[in-house]
Amino acid sequence: MYLKAPTGCDKYIPYIEKITLGIIAAMDVLVVGSGGREHALAWKLKQSPRIGKLYIAPGNGGTSTLGENVPIGQMEFEKLAQFAQEKKVGLTVVGPDDPLVGGIVDVFKARGLRIWGPSREAAQIEGSKAFSKQFMHEAKIPTAEFAVFSNAALALAHVRVKGAPIVIKASGLSLGKGVYVCRDLTEAERAITEIMVERVHNDAGNEVVIEEYLDGPEISIHALTDGYSHILFPASQDHKPIGDGDVGENTGGMGTIAPVPWVTPEMMSSVEGQIVTPTFEALKKNGIQFQGLLYPGLKVTLGGLEVLEYNARFGDPETQVYMRLLKTDLLDLLEASVDGTIDALRTKIEWHRGFAANIVIASGGYPGEYKKELPITGIEDAEKVEGVVTFHAGTKIENGQVVTAGGRVLGVSAIGGTLKQALDRAYEAVGEIYFEGMYFRRDIGAKSLSA
Ligand SMILES: Nc1ncnc2c1ncn2[C@@H]1O[C@H](COP(=O)(O)OP(=O)(O)O)[C@@H](O)[C@H]1O
Ligand SMILES: [Mg+2]
Repeated sequence: MYLKAPTGCDKYIPYIEKITLGIIAAMDVLVVGSGGREHALAWKLKQSPRIGKLYIAPGNGGTSTLGENVPIGQMEFEKLAQFAQEKKVGLTVVGPDDPLVGGIVDVFKARGLRIWGPSREAAQIEGSKAFSKQFMHEAKIPTAEFAVFSNAALALAHVRVKGAPIVIKASGLSLGKGVYVCRDLTEAERAITEIMVERVHNDAGNEVVIEEYLDGPEISIHALTDGYSHILFPASQDHKPIGDGDVGENTGGMGTIAPVPWVTPEMMSSVEGQIVTPTFEALKKNGIQFQGLLYPGLKVTLGGLEVLEYNARFGDPETQVYMRLLKTDLLDLLEASVDGTIDALRTKIEWHRGFAANIVIASGGYPGEYKKELPITGIEDAEKVEGVVTFHAGTKIENGQVVTAGGRVLGVSAIGGTLKQALDRAYEAVGEIYFEGMYFRRDIGAKSLSA
């Protein structure tokens, strides 16, 4: 730490002077959420030279070792705002989509509290797929051909005309489980019945987007913005289906890599020119100020890039790899997004060289039903593997023992000079961890290694 430097060493004086003068004031930060993304954000924020107290509401077993877990739910906006006010929190950082779409930012701002994330209006771009498809259509942003329905009979008639393969989506937020990629008409009819008749996603299924099936690999794009300017992160890649080889049901995400080795600078220019810039311009044109993180999910098809959806927050588990690669202070970046000073950081943001990988370990049975409260062993040994950091998701600590508490339990991340090294380290570390029924994909990043 700089403060312990020998006196008389001028290199350290400016820093000490700044502290004495109170220029580098410590800031208390509240992170809202309880997943692997929030553990990764808290882990990176903790490294800021300006961080004061770190609170995580409600947090998980991992975040409790970095700061103070606060027992307030992520949808309890008034209680969270009250807490931030009482504790004089300098910045609240919102991780998940549900509170953003529910309007947590508006509640905080109405009380004059400083918060990072898009407003309820801006978060609609994620919260309603019907809205975002219409938005893309009007802004001429490449996306699959689509139609929106709120009547099951009309939806059924439409899929019969269009034929399979076809994709059926509940328009609202549904924990990453509202999208049905249907290979034949029977599957498509079943999907419409589930969403619109049985209403398994409740009101999220009031509207249904039916769209053309697109073929090709997927990438995740992250752009941090203050509503005026933006910073584009390197591309990352998640693996959504539960099974190796991308088979089976979709999950919240089973593993990530970044950067994606086959995404060329030319492709990133197209992402910028065809998707990111036009999206921000169209948002402005519609009078929507988006401050926060815009994460478009893309398909790379033979015909070019296509936007599958927008998310209005950091990806989970993309954040776990980004935080391992990011060199710049995250607090500086998030504050710039809140304060409208992103432009000044555009050319200053720094990333570590090399690659990062994150392997998600899930409870047996996820994304369906699974057991909870199972003791987890081996996390310390996993972290002895070079370059490895374990992020908790569905965990809690009970009598000093880490136990499972959710579907996605841990994210084992590693950095390496090559993608292969990062993956080898992460998988070696996964091998040290055990809980009954644990499940993970064995092919994260495999396609990119052979690409
Ligand atoms: N038009 C499409 N063609 C092919 N696959 C799709 C299409 N739309 C979505 N998918 C698949 O379904 C997944 C989830 O869809 P997405 O629109 O991202 O919804 P969400 O993340 O909200 O569940 C995507 O990651 C992709 O694998
Ligand atoms: Mg998605």
